[in-house]
Amino acid sequence: MSDIKGKNFLLGLTGSIAAYKAAHLTRLLIKEGAAVKVIMTPLAKEFITPLTMATLSQNPILVDFFDPENGNWNSHVDLGLWADGFIIAPATANTMAKMANGIADNLLLTTYLSAKCPIFIAPAMDLEMFKHPANRDNMDKLEKLGHIFIEPEEGELASGLIGKGRLSEPETIVEQIKSFYQKKKSLINKTILITAGPTYENIDAVRFIGNYSSGKMGYALAEECACRGAKVILISGPVNIKPIHQNIELINTISANEMFDAAITNFEKVDAAIMAAAVADFTPEQIIDSKIKRKDQSLIIELKPTQDIAGVLGRTKKDKILVGFALEIENEIENAIGKLNRKNLDFIVLNSMNDNGAGFNVDTNKITIIDNNEQKLEFKIKDKNLVAIDIIDKLEEYL
Ligand code: CTP
Repeated sequence: MSDIKGKNFLLGLTGSIAAYKAAHLTRLLIKEGAAVKVIMTPLAKEFITPLTMATLSQNPILVDFFDPENGNWNSHVDLGLWADGFIIAPATANTMAKMANGIADNLLLTTYLSAKCPIFIAPAMDLEMFKHPANRDNMDKLEKLGHIFIEPEEGELASGLIGKGRLSEPETIVEQIKSFYQKKKSLINKTILITAGPTYENIDAVRFIGNYSSGKMGYALAEECACRGAKVILISGPVNIKPIHQNIELINTISANEMFDAAITNFEKVDAAIMAAAVADFTPEQIIDSKIKRKDQSLIIELKPTQDIAGVLGRTKKDKILVGFALEIENEIENAIGKLNRKNLDFIVLNSMNDNGAGFNVDTNKITIIDNNEQKLEFKIKDKNLVAIDIIDKLEEYL
């Protein structure tokens, strides 16, 4: 049975050349057994006719707050309640900017603000618009609200330029939506511990040793497990993101030592643990209470090793599943296998610093999963949310 059979979808169309793809998208959703109501922004009507969309969706098209023919009120609140999912495809930079800032000047936007269902956003625009920091900021804001982005593809754009910005193909959009609903229940009754983000090791009252980890990979893993029904204990170093899903219990930590204590205390309760944090390997021997004063001679700060959290959990894990990460610069596979064995992991996720778009502080990652039979599974570069799907699919094989 299709995972979206019987579900109600609002399809929001905005003013983009790619609006023509919404016709095929609607047909695919209907074919899967979903119900579709289409909301168009006034500009979207210039790109595809309401008649086409009404015929394909088997429902009247919604554009205005009132039906101009009979004055009936198109209640955005009722539409929001009706929907099991709201797909905005194509989503223009303009509509995403308004969504990110709570602007409500058309029916699509008022419905968006009222909807409590999962929101799927499939952007479509020119490559420079897509890359623009203002647009990236808006997308980041929407992502932090837990909305699911269906990334645009690389290719020829309406402008004639080639780059990232083409609306994802309707088949891809439907596949991603189906996989979102499919994964809902597969981890019910499981508890997963995840470490994420950097650690800060204090030097004095105002300074610390840290690293560039943003926490995005660990948080994406936490959301993915929670969406599949797991209870998640997320032990996080200092980051700028917040967990969205209510199944995630957040434990904030700062230093490697605090993260270690939290992990040890909670390990007993869990079925699996994923060590995605970039934990400092060394911490100052002494923390100076005040601020170290400037002097002309060099300053030596003596460091002592921190506890290896993954290593300690690996020694006590029994039948629990333990997953680690390895960010490597050279001899990647060999080093990752070394860590897998040393820390007694079930599998390790390797990302190489030599791959563009992998590692710290980027939205994408390129991973190879190596299991304890030294089987290697290589993946393409993807958004970290999609990488999380691949990792949790692998974890499910063990649980
Ligand atoms: N890890 C941990 N506690 C530490 C250091 C690392 O739990 N104190 C975990 C990381 O979260 C990751 C794995 O161990 O899952 C590998 O981390 P990495 O920093 O790559 O390896 P290290 O053991 O620190 O080895 P090295 O720094 O020599 O590469």
